[in-house]
Amino acid sequence: MTGQPLLRIEELHKSFGALNVLKGVSLSVRLGEVAFLIGPSGSGKSTLVRCINFLETPTAGTIKFEGETLCGMRNGAFYVAPEKKLRAARSHMPMVFQQFNLFAHKTVLQNVIEGPIQIKGSRREEAIADAMRLLGDVGLREKVDYYPDQLSGGQKQRVAIARALAMHPKVILFDEPTSALDPELVTGILDTIRGLANKGMTLIIVTHEMGFARKLADVVHFMADGHIIESGPPDQIFDRPESPRLSSFIRSILR
Ligand SMILES: Nc1ncnc2c1ncn2[C@@H]1O[C@H](COP(=O)(O)OP(=O)(O)O)[C@@H](O)[C@H]1O
Ligand SMILES: [Mg+2]
Repeated sequence: MTGQPLLRIEELHKSFGALNVLKGVSLSVRLGEVAFLIGPSGSGKSTLVRCINFLETPTAGTIKFEGETLCGMRNGAFYVAPEKKLRAARSHMPMVFQQFNLFAHKTVLQNVIEGPIQIKGSRREEAIADAMRLLGDVGLREKVDYYPDQLSGGQKQRVAIARALAMHPKVILFDEPTSALDPELVTGILDTIRGLANKGMTLIIVTHEMGFARKLADVVHFMADGHIIESGPPDQIFDRPESPRLSSFIRSILR
């Protein structure tokens, strides 16, 4: 199945008022691909992944998901698909955030079944059975009745991953999933993400964990100042960068 285009982004722009954050980003992600986005703080990585699932609405450009146009030019004007279509697409590409973004007033189990029941219309008993299995997979079977503030950061992030998996998504978007974690908890989350990649899950991962990106990536995209400056396999990006901007970024993080 690997090789089919799942997501195609062309000349994507996003502004906040007068601030142009994405300045024409083009990017394709194939089914089964593990794509990393790296780059300096403020370069637009979060904005890009938030635009991909329409947590932010792009200002211009094309996003196609499984061949369906979510935004793009139509009859000479910028078109954004109706909310119903966006919601359906979004349910196929859930996001895991740096700050977990769990529902504080819901238990672990309730956090995981919310999407399947509310968005996919799953039957409650089926959603619970699936959630119990997924929470078992991430080592949280004993915590299903806990509330988020009773969990460690690493446990919260595993709930967030189980919540994403409960949607049986086509791709999972990760925005710096380990940046808010104590150092000793980072490895566990990276191992969980590696497990998803090894099962063939399509992943788009924003991270500063360069060793992790180097080992796991099919492709790495380097972003700076609202552009993708260079894309390539990890050995190119980390060992033989072609652009001066990427070379100096790699030198700065190795220092
Ligand atoms: N909702 C927003 N409103 C205004 N400016 C924003 C908003 N979100 C992001 N920005 C700005 O967009 C730029 C890129 O931010 P971001 O996408 O978060 O970068 P990165 O994730 O690469 O650090 C920053 O200058 C940031 O302040
Ligand atoms: Mg960010």
